[in-house]
Amino acid sequence: MEKVKIEKNTVQETLIIPLYGRKMCSEKFPELYNDVFAKRLCDRLDYDFSELEKKNKSFLYEFGSLEAAMRQLDIMWEIQAYLKDHPKATIVNLGCGLDDTGKACNNGLCHIVNVDFPDVILVRKQLIVEQEREKSIACDLKDYSWMEEVDGTNGVIFFAAGVFHYFRKDEVKTLVLELSKRYPGGCLVFDSVGKLGLRLMMSKAIKNMGINDVEGLFYVNNPKKELNWSNRIKVTSKGYMLGYYDMKSPGIRFSHRLLARIGDKIIKMSINRMDFE
Ligand SMILES: C[S@@+](CC[C@H](N)C(=O)[O-])C[C@H]1O[C@@H](n2cnc3c(N)ncnc32)[C@H](O)[C@@H]1O
Repeated sequence: MEKVKIEKNTVQETLIIPLYGRKMCSEKFPELYNDVFAKRLCDRLDYDFSELEKKNKSFLYEFGSLEAAMRQLDIMWEIQAYLKDHPKATIVNLGCGLDDTGKACNNGLCHIVNVDFPDVILVRKQLIVEQEREKSIACDLKDYSWMEEVDGTNGVIFFAAGVFHYFRKDEVKTLVLELSKRYPGGCLVFDSVGKLGLRLMMSKAIKNMGINDVEGLFYVNNPKKELNWSNRIKVTSKGYMLGYYDMKSPGIRFSHRLLARIGDKIIKMSINRMDFE
Protein backbone atom coordinates (compact mmCIF):
# COMPACT_ATOMS: atom_id res chain seq x y z
CA MET A 1 0.00 0.00 0.00
CA GLU A 2 1.32 3.46 -0.87
CA LYS A 3 2.64 5.51 2.04
CA VAL A 4 1.48 9.03 2.82
CA LYS A 5 4.14 11.72 3.29
CA ILE A 6 4.31 13.95 6.37
CA GLU A 7 6.50 17.00 5.83
CA LYS A 8 9.12 17.84 8.46
CA ASN A 9 9.10 21.20 10.26
CA THR A 10 5.46 21.94 9.57
CA VAL A 11 2.51 22.33 11.95
CA GLN A 12 1.27 19.11 10.38
CA GLU A 13 4.32 17.32 11.82
CA THR A 14 3.16 18.07 15.37
CA LEU A 15 0.57 15.29 15.00
CA ILE A 16 3.38 12.69 14.87
CA ILE A 17 4.45 12.95 18.53
CA PRO A 18 1.08 12.10 20.13
CA LEU A 19 0.37 9.47 17.47
CA TYR A 20 3.72 7.76 18.02
CA GLY A 21 3.23 8.11 21.80
CA ARG A 22 -0.11 6.30 21.57
CA LYS A 23 1.48 3.53 19.50
CA MET A 24 4.40 3.21 21.93
CA CYS A 25 2.14 3.17 24.99
CA SER A 26 -0.07 0.48 23.41
CA GLU A 27 3.05 -1.66 22.92
CA LYS A 28 4.60 -1.05 26.34
CA PHE A 29 1.57 -0.85 28.60
CA PRO A 30 -1.25 -2.66 26.77
CA GLU A 31 -3.23 -3.27 29.96
CA LEU A 32 -3.47 0.48 30.50
CA TYR A 33 -4.05 1.55 26.94
CA ASN A 34 -4.58 -0.06 23.57
CA ASP A 35 -4.94 2.16 20.54
CA VAL A 36 -5.57 -0.15 17.62
CA PHE A 37 -5.44 2.71 15.13
CA ALA A 38 -2.08 4.24 16.09
CA LYS A 39 0.27 1.43 15.01
CA ARG A 40 -1.54 0.88 11.73
CA LEU A 41 -1.37 4.60 10.97
CA CYS A 42 2.35 4.93 11.80
CA ASP A 43 3.09 2.01 9.44
CA ARG A 44 1.32 3.82 6.63
CA LEU A 45 3.23 7.09 6.99
CA ASP A 46 6.21 8.09 4.90
CA TYR A 47 8.04 9.74 7.81
CA ASP A 48 11.47 9.18 9.28
CA PHE A 49 10.73 7.73 12.72
CA SER A 50 14.40 6.86 13.40
CA GLU A 51 14.97 9.74 15.85
CA LEU A 52 11.91 8.70 17.85
CA GLU A 53 12.83 4.99 17.63
CA LYS A 54 16.27 5.77 19.08
CA LYS A 55 14.75 7.50 22.11
CA ASN A 56 12.05 4.86 22.45
CA LYS A 57 13.78 3.14 25.38
CA SER A 58 14.60 6.23 27.44
CA PHE A 59 12.63 6.77 30.62
CA LEU A 60 11.51 10.25 29.59
CA TYR A 61 10.18 9.07 26.24
CA GLU A 62 8.44 6.19 27.93
CA PHE A 63 6.84 8.78 30.19
CA GLY A 64 5.96 10.86 27.11
CA SER A 65 4.05 7.90 25.70
CA LEU A 66 2.12 7.64 28.96
CA GLU A 67 1.27 11.34 28.64
CA ALA A 68 -0.19 10.81 25.17
CA ALA A 69 -2.24 7.84 26.37
CA MET A 70 -3.49 9.39 29.63
CA ARG A 71 -4.73 12.47 27.78
CA GLN A 72 -6.75 10.31 25.41
CA LEU A 73 -8.11 8.14 28.23
CA ASP A 74 -9.16 11.23 30.24
CA ILE A 75 -10.86 12.83 27.25
CA MET A 76 -12.63 9.56 26.42
CA TRP A 77 -13.85 9.42 30.01
CA GLU A 78 -15.43 12.89 29.62
CA ILE A 79 -16.94 12.07 26.21
CA GLN A 80 -18.48 8.84 27.48
CA ALA A 81 -19.93 10.68 30.50
CA TYR A 82 -21.46 13.34 28.23
CA LEU A 83 -22.87 10.71 25.83
CA LYS A 84 -24.70 9.00 28.71
CA ASP A 85 -26.95 12.07 28.97
CA HIS A 86 -26.80 13.03 25.27
CA PRO A 87 -26.48 9.78 23.29
CA LYS A 88 -27.10 11.50 19.94
CA ALA A 89 -24.63 14.31 20.56
CA THR A 90 -21.96 15.45 18.12
CA ILE A 91 -18.35 14.77 19.17
CA VAL A 92 -16.04 17.37 17.65
CA ASN A 93 -12.29 16.69 17.54
CA LEU A 94 -10.61 20.12 17.26
CA GLY A 95 -7.12 19.89 15.72
CA CYS A 96 -7.72 16.17 15.19
CA GLY A 97 -4.42 15.26 13.50
CA LEU A 98 -4.55 11.48 13.06
CA ASP A 99 -6.39 10.84 16.30
CA ASP A 100 -9.46 8.61 16.18
CA THR A 101 -10.94 9.20 19.64
CA GLY A 102 -14.34 9.91 18.08
CA LYS A 103 -14.55 6.36 16.69
CA ALA A 104 -13.30 4.89 19.97
CA CYS A 105 -16.33 6.52 21.68
CA ASN A 106 -18.86 5.68 18.99
CA ASN A 107 -22.11 4.48 20.62
CA GLY A 108 -23.88 3.89 17.31
CA LEU A 109 -25.96 7.08 17.63
CA CYS A 110 -23.55 9.97 18.07
CA HIS A 111 -22.12 12.07 15.24
CA ILE A 112 -18.39 12.67 14.80
CA VAL A 113 -16.73 15.76 13.30
CA ASN A 114 -12.96 16.14 12.85
CA VAL A 115 -11.48 19.59 12.20
CA ASP A 116 -7.90 20.47 11.22
CA PHE A 117 -5.93 22.42 8.62
CA PRO A 118 -6.58 21.40 4.96
CA ASP A 119 -3.20 19.63 4.55
CA VAL A 120 -3.84 17.49 7.64
CA ILE A 121 -7.39 16.62 6.57
CA LEU A 122 -6.00 15.62 3.16
CA VAL A 123 -3.56 13.19 4.81
CA ARG A 124 -6.26 11.98 7.19
CA LYS A 125 -8.68 11.20 4.38
CA GLN A 126 -6.04 9.12 2.60
CA LEU A 127 -5.48 7.02 5.72
CA ILE A 128 -8.71 6.84 7.68
CA VAL A 129 -12.06 5.78 6.29
CA GLU A 130 -14.90 7.92 7.55
CA GLN A 131 -17.74 6.01 9.13
CA GLU A 132 -21.43 6.65 8.92
CA ARG A 133 -22.33 9.80 10.89
CA GLU A 134 -18.74 11.07 10.61
CA LYS A 135 -17.27 13.97 8.62
CA SER A 136 -14.07 15.97 8.44
CA ILE A 137 -13.80 19.72 7.98
CA ALA A 138 -10.68 21.31 6.51
CA CYS A 139 -10.47 24.71 8.18
CA ASP A 140 -8.35 26.87 10.45
CA LEU A 141 -10.02 26.73 13.88
CA LYS A 142 -9.56 30.49 14.14
CA ASP A 143 -11.84 30.96 11.13
CA TYR A 144 -15.20 30.20 12.71
CA SER A 145 -16.91 29.22 9.45
CA TRP A 146 -16.36 25.55 10.45
CA MET A 147 -18.96 26.05 13.19
CA GLU A 148 -21.67 26.43 10.57
CA GLU A 149 -21.19 22.74 9.75
CA VAL A 150 -21.52 21.54 13.35
CA ASP A 151 -25.01 20.71 14.51
CA GLY A 152 -25.40 20.88 18.29
CA THR A 153 -29.17 20.25 18.40
CA ASN A 154 -28.82 16.94 20.25
CA GLY A 155 -25.89 18.09 22.36
CA VAL A 156 -22.27 18.66 21.41
CA ILE A 157 -18.95 17.93 23.05
CA PHE A 158 -15.83 19.58 21.62
CA PHE A 159 -12.37 18.44 22.59
CA ALA A 160 -8.89 19.70 21.79
CA ALA A 161 -5.92 17.44 22.64
CA GLY A 162 -2.52 19.11 22.45
CA VAL A 163 -3.86 21.96 20.33
CA PHE A 164 -4.29 25.12 22.40
CA HIS A 165 -0.55 25.27 23.24
CA TYR A 166 -0.18 26.69 19.72
CA PHE A 167 -2.76 29.43 20.36
CA ARG A 168 -2.43 32.78 22.07
CA LYS A 169 -4.37 33.20 25.28
CA ASP A 170 -6.82 35.69 23.76
CA GLU A 171 -7.43 33.34 20.81
CA VAL A 172 -8.50 30.51 23.10
CA LYS A 173 -10.73 32.85 25.08
CA THR A 174 -12.44 34.25 21.97
CA LEU A 175 -12.98 30.74 20.59
CA VAL A 176 -14.44 29.51 23.89
CA LEU A 177 -16.82 32.49 24.19
CA GLU A 178 -18.01 31.95 20.62
CA LEU A 179 -18.65 28.24 21.27
CA SER A 180 -20.52 29.03 24.49
CA LYS A 181 -22.71 31.54 22.64
CA ARG A 182 -23.52 29.18 19.77
CA TYR A 183 -23.90 25.93 21.72
CA PRO A 184 -25.71 26.32 25.05
CA GLY A 185 -25.82 22.91 26.74
CA GLY A 186 -22.58 21.99 24.95
CA CYS A 187 -19.25 21.26 26.51
CA LEU A 188 -15.53 21.65 25.74
CA VAL A 189 -12.68 19.50 27.08
CA PHE A 190 -9.01 20.35 26.58
CA ASP A 191 -5.60 19.94 28.15
CA SER A 192 -3.40 22.74 29.44
CA VAL A 193 -0.09 23.19 31.22
CA GLY A 194 1.29 25.96 33.43
CA LYS A 195 3.91 28.49 32.37
CA LEU A 196 6.84 26.29 33.38
CA GLY A 197 5.36 23.33 31.53
CA LEU A 198 4.85 25.31 28.35
CA ARG A 199 8.45 26.54 28.48
CA LEU A 200 9.77 22.98 28.86
CA MET A 201 7.46 21.45 26.32
CA MET A 202 7.46 24.02 23.61
CA SER A 203 11.04 25.28 23.45
CA LYS A 204 11.57 23.97 19.87
CA ALA A 205 8.07 24.83 18.70
CA ILE A 206 8.36 28.33 20.13
CA LYS A 207 11.57 28.94 18.16
CA ASN A 208 9.83 27.65 15.01
CA MET A 209 6.99 30.09 15.66
CA GLY A 210 9.59 32.89 15.72
CA ILE A 211 8.92 34.05 19.28
CA ASN A 212 11.20 34.22 22.28
CA ASP A 213 9.00 33.37 25.20
CA VAL A 214 5.73 31.73 26.14
CA GLU A 215 4.27 35.03 27.35
CA GLY A 216 1.03 35.62 25.44
CA LEU A 217 0.70 31.93 24.54
CA PHE A 218 -1.94 29.81 26.22
CA TYR A 219 -0.81 28.46 29.56
CA VAL A 220 -2.85 28.06 32.73
CA ASN A 221 -1.42 27.87 36.23
CA ASN A 222 -4.76 27.84 38.04
CA PRO A 223 -7.57 26.64 35.73
CA LYS A 224 -10.58 27.39 37.95
CA LYS A 225 -9.45 30.97 38.52
CA GLU A 226 -7.88 31.80 35.17
CA LEU A 227 -10.52 30.19 32.95
CA ASN A 228 -13.36 32.00 34.66
CA TRP A 229 -14.29 33.90 31.50
CA SER A 230 -18.06 34.04 31.78
CA ASN A 231 -20.70 33.37 34.40
CA ARG A 232 -22.45 31.19 31.81
CA ILE A 233 -19.51 28.78 31.64
CA LYS A 234 -18.94 26.27 34.42
CA VAL A 235 -15.29 25.22 34.68
CA THR A 236 -14.04 22.02 36.26
CA SER A 237 -10.49 20.73 36.14
CA LYS A 238 -8.60 17.57 37.08
CA GLY A 239 -5.00 16.38 37.02
CA TYR A 240 -4.02 15.22 33.55
CA MET A 241 -1.90 12.25 34.62
CA LEU A 242 -3.61 11.08 37.82
CA GLY A 243 -6.92 12.95 37.96
CA TYR A 244 -8.93 10.16 36.29
CA TYR A 245 -6.89 6.96 36.70
CA ASP A 246 -4.34 5.82 39.30
CA MET A 247 -1.91 4.43 36.68
CA LYS A 248 -1.50 1.23 38.65
CA SER A 249 -1.24 -1.06 35.64
CA PRO A 250 1.34 -3.77 34.93
CA GLY A 251 4.71 -2.36 33.82
CA ILE A 252 4.08 1.14 35.20
CA ARG A 253 6.69 1.84 37.83
CA PHE A 254 6.63 3.95 41.01
CA SER A 255 8.99 6.37 39.24
CA HIS A 256 6.43 6.86 36.45
CA ARG A 257 3.73 7.68 38.99
CA LEU A 258 6.08 10.03 40.86
CA LEU A 259 6.80 11.94 37.66
CA ALA A 260 3.07 11.92 36.91
CA ARG A 261 2.41 13.54 40.29
CA ILE A 262 5.08 16.17 39.57
CA GLY A 263 3.47 16.76 36.17
CA ASP A 264 0.07 17.40 37.71
CA LYS A 265 1.21 19.40 40.75
CA ILE A 266 4.21 21.38 39.52
CA ILE A 267 3.93 21.52 35.73
CA LYS A 268 0.16 22.04 36.29
CA MET A 269 -0.85 19.54 33.63
CA SER A 270 -4.65 19.65 33.62
CA ILE A 271 -7.68 18.41 31.79
CA ASN A 272 -10.29 21.15 31.82
CA ARG A 273 -13.98 20.83 31.15
CA MET A 274 -16.20 23.79 30.36
CA ASP A 275 -19.98 23.40 30.38
CA PHE A 276 -21.90 26.06 28.48
CA GLU A 277 -25.13 27.06 30.22
C1 LIG B 1 0.03 18.19 18.65
S1 LIG B 1 -1.05 17.88 17.30
C2 LIG B 1 -2.37 16.99 18.13
C3 LIG B 1 -3.16 16.16 17.20
C4 LIG B 1 -4.29 15.36 17.84
N1 LIG B 1 -5.20 16.18 18.59
C5 LIG B 1 -3.74 14.26 18.72
O1 LIG B 1 -3.94 14.29 19.94
O2 LIG B 1 -3.11 13.33 18.18
C6 LIG B 1 -1.80 19.48 17.02
C7 LIG B 1 -2.82 19.48 15.90
O3 LIG B 1 -3.52 20.72 15.94
C8 LIG B 1 -3.67 21.19 14.63
N2 LIG B 1 -3.83 22.65 14.69
C9 LIG B 1 -3.04 23.56 15.32
N3 LIG B 1 -3.52 24.81 15.13
C10 LIG B 1 -4.64 24.69 14.39
C11 LIG B 1 -5.59 25.63 13.86
N4 LIG B 1 -5.45 26.94 14.05
N5 LIG B 1 -6.61 25.15 13.12
C12 LIG B 1 -6.76 23.83 12.89
N6 LIG B 1 -5.90 22.89 13.38
C13 LIG B 1 -4.85 23.32 14.11
C14 LIG B 1 -2.39 20.75 13.93
O4 LIG B 1 -2.52 20.75 12.51
C15 LIG B 1 -2.20 19.36 14.51
O5 LIG B 1 -2.87 18.37 13.77
